[in-house]
Amino acid sequence: MKLLIPFLRVLFFALIAFFLFEVIAGTDDQLAFEKYPMVQTIFWALVILAIFIEIVVGALKSRVYNSLNEEAQERFNDFEDNSYLGKLYAKLLDSKPIEEEGEIILDHNYDGIKELDNTLPPWWVYMFYMTIIFAVIYLLRFEVFNGDSNVMEYEKDVAQAKIDIAEWKKNNPNMIDASSVELLTEAADLEKGKEIFNTNCAVCHLADGGGKIGPNLTDDHWINGGGIKNVFTTITEGGRPGKGMVAWKGDLTALERAQVASYVLSFQGTTPATPKAPEGDVWVEE
Ligand code: HEC
Repeated sequence: MKLLIPFLRVLFFALIAFFLFEVIAGTDDQLAFEKYPMVQTIFWALVILAIFIEIVVGALKSRVYNSLNEEAQERFNDFEDNSYLGKLYAKLLDSKPIEEEGEIILDHNYDGIKELDNTLPPWWVYMFYMTIIFAVIYLLRFEVFNGDSNVMEYEKDVAQAKIDIAEWKKNNPNMIDASSVELLTEAADLEKGKEIFNTNCAVCHLADGGGKIGPNLTDDHWINGGGIKNVFTTITEGGRPGKGMVAWKGDLTALERAQVASYVLSFQGTTPATPKAPEGDVWVEE
C-alpha cells in the first residue's frame, strides 16, 4: 500500500489539474482538452513534472532514512504510522497484525488451511450503511412521496423549454428568419399585415391580391414557391432578378415581413375582382 501512495498522489494531482483546466477554459459543449491542443501539452508536462518530483523526493527520503541510526529510524516509522492519514488508514482496515493473528484463528482445519475470524473491514461496513441510508431515502422519495421519474423529469424539462422558447420568440419578434418563421394567425398580426400590404404591395399586386405587375397571390400557383417559408423568403430577398419584386429586408423588419407574408397567404382561395392568370407551379405543402 505504501508503494501506491505516490502513484495516488500523482493521479489526484492530475485529476485536479484536469478539472481546473475545464473550469477555466472548457465550454458546455466542448472540453478544453479537445479545443486547445496546448492544454493537453501543458497537462502532460505537469503530470510528468509531478512524477519526476515524486521520484526525486522518494529517492531523497530513502537516502536520508538509510543514513539514520536505528533509533532514529524507529522514531521516523512511529511518526509515519501516527500521522493522521496513517491512523485513518489503519482504522478503516482494522486488520490484526500478523503477530496477533493467533487470537482470532478458528478451530477447524481444511486440509491444513485454516480460517481467521476477522471483523468486516470498517471501510466496507460504512459503505454498506450508506447504501442502506440511500435505499431509505430512495424508497421514501420515489415510492412514498411519488417523486418524478427520469421520464417525468425529462418531459417537464421539455415542456419548460417550449415555454421558454415561446417566451423568447415573443420578446424577440425580429429574430425570425426563413427557417423559424411560422404562419401568424392572430387577428392583430393579420391586421398589421394588411396595412403593410396596402401601403407597399397593392400597387403591383392589387389590394385583393388579384395581381397586376406582380402575379396573382390568391391562386395556388407560385413562381417562387408557396408556404410561409418561401413567401417570407421571396418578400425578404425579392423575386427573380429583373422581375420588379425587390427585396424588402431593408424596409420591413422581420416581424413585419412575417405579418405581411401571413396576410398574403390569407388570400389563398379567395376570388379577386380581376384575377391575373396563374403563373408558376401548383404548390403542395409537404
Ligand atoms: C414593383 C411592383 C411590386 C411591388 C411593390 C411588390 N411586388 Fe411582389 N412581386 C412583383 C413581381 C413582378 C413578382 C414576380 C417575381 C418573379 O417573377 O420572381 C412578385 C412576386 C411576389 C411574390 C411571389 C409570388 C410567386 O408566385 O412566387 C410574393 C409573395 C410577393 N410578390 C409579395 C409582395 C409583397 C408582400 C409586397 C409588399 C411588401 C410586394 N410583393 C411588393 C412585383 C411587386
